Parts: sequence; structure tokens; C-alpha cells
Amino acid sequence: MSDFESRVRWLTDQYTFSFDPKTYHATYYSEPDDEVKFFLEGFHRVFTQEPTLMSRPPRQRRLLEFGSGPVPIYVAAASVYTSSITMSDVLDSNRSGLAVEERTRKAVQMVVPCDGAAARPLQPGGTTELPGALRPPATQLYDVIMSTLCLEFASSTLEDFREMLRRLLELVRPGGCLVLAGALGNTYYQLGRSRYPSVRLSPEDLKAALKDLLILDFRVLKRQTSKEKPADHDAVFFLVAQK
Ligand SMILES: C[S@@+](CC[C@H](N)C(=O)[O-])C[C@H]1O[C@@H](n2cnc3c(N)ncnc32)[C@H](O)[C@@H]1O
Repeated sequence: MSDFESRVRWLTDQYTFSFDPKTYHATYYSEPDDEVKFFLEGFHRVFTQEPTLMSRPPRQRRLLEFGSGPVPIYVAAASVYTSSITMSDVLDSNRSGLAVEERTRKAVQMVVPCDGAAARPLQPGGTTELPGALRPPATQLYDVIMSTLCLEFASSTLEDFREMLRRLLELVRPGGCLVLAGALGNTYYQLGRSRYPSVRLSPEDLKAALKDLLILDFRVLKRQTSKEKPADHDAVFFLVAQK
């Protein structure tokens, strides 16, 4: 096992051991704060107005959400754009804990396991399928990959973040887009009695990690929340980049 894999697996084990979807929801999503609204507005803007995405015909709008957690609201924003959504998470409990609304449920074709530590992060084994869902072929490439608050929490060093991003980008077809939202300056978040680390990102780190892509949109919002959100980020970001 490489150093990258053993570090990321150590972190994944923390999630497997203690992450509770209900507590996560109650702590971070009981009501949408201004940071969550910033993400939702960003996704809504991208999925209704971004010219690069809007110019694609419906059959070229295959979308993957990486690291969905127990949170269906961001793919709900994507369901106005495409009816071909795959959601993913490393934890069984997150994949089975997803309650999706009618329109979103129609658009979500499958919920599959993923693992940012794996050489191919979308592992098609052991899918939890929604009715009528299929498993993705191992060679599947996506037109859009979206991910919120995942990569920086699934890795603990900048080097690992970049490696995970590189592996994820291999699942985007050339010309396809990455839509990434997350936390800046964050080193941990608290969930019940568990504390999860993250890699401390700056806007410059992100831009450097995406240097081979064309950045179409990059926005930063200063922290809007206080102690009610037990994490130490100083800002959040939303970006769109084309491969
Ligand atoms: C902070 S939560 C974010 C959840 C959700 N996307 C959101 O926006 O609230 C981090 C997510 O990363 C997932 N995760 C942790 N390690 C991972 C890995 N190695 N590969 C993929 N996802 C992972 C966790 O299961 C969890 O759902």
C-alpha cells in the first residue's frame, strides 16, 4: 500500500468507525445557513446558466456526485440539469440513509460506493440501487463531476488532496467539467464526540491543483457562521473547471 493509500485509509476508517449520518444532518443541515445557501446558489447557477454545461445535449450530461454523504440537496439542484445522476459515498450508512425528493429520485439512477483512496475511485462493487438502477460500467466517464466538502475531508495533506483530485479527474471525459464546493482554511470538524481532520486549503492551493484545467468560475465567501457550526474554516469556495 502506498503512503497515500495508507494515510487516506486511516482517515476512511475513522468515518467507518464513527460517522453518524443523523448527527451529521442535525449538526450541519438542520436549517440551511448562508454557506449552504452559497453552495446551493452556485449549483443552481451552474446547472441553469453555465454556457459550457448548458450547451451539452441531454445525453451528454452524465453526472457523478462524489462523496454525497447523507445529503441529497446538492444533487436536487443538479436534477434540473440532468436526469442521469450517479451519487456515491464510501460509507454504506450514507448511501442507504439518503432520502431524496421525487424529482431528484427520478434523476438519480444509482447510488454507488466510491473511495478516494482507490486507484479508480468509483468502485462499481456492492451498489445500493434505487429501483431500476444499473451499475456503472468500470470504464464509465462523466460529463460533470460535482463534489461538496469531500476531498478536503477525505485527505489530510495537500499532497494527498492533489492525488485524490487527480484520480477523480480521470473519471471526467475530456471537455467535461468539475464542480467543486468546500471549505477553506479548515483543519477539523466536530460531530458529536468525534473530530474529523481535513487538509487546510487556500484559494492558491486549489488553483495550483487545477492548473491543467480551465477555471470557468471561482468564488469565495468569508465565513458566515459561528460556533453553531463546529468547524474551523475561515471561508468556503465554489468553483467550476473544465478538463
Ligand atoms: C464532510 S462530509 C461531506 C458530505 C456531503 N457531501 C456534504 O456536502 O455535506 C465528508 C464525506 O466524505 C466521505 N468520505 C470520507 N472518506 C472518503 C473516501 N476515501 N472516499 C470518498 N468519500 C469519502 C464521507 O463518508 C462523508 O460523506
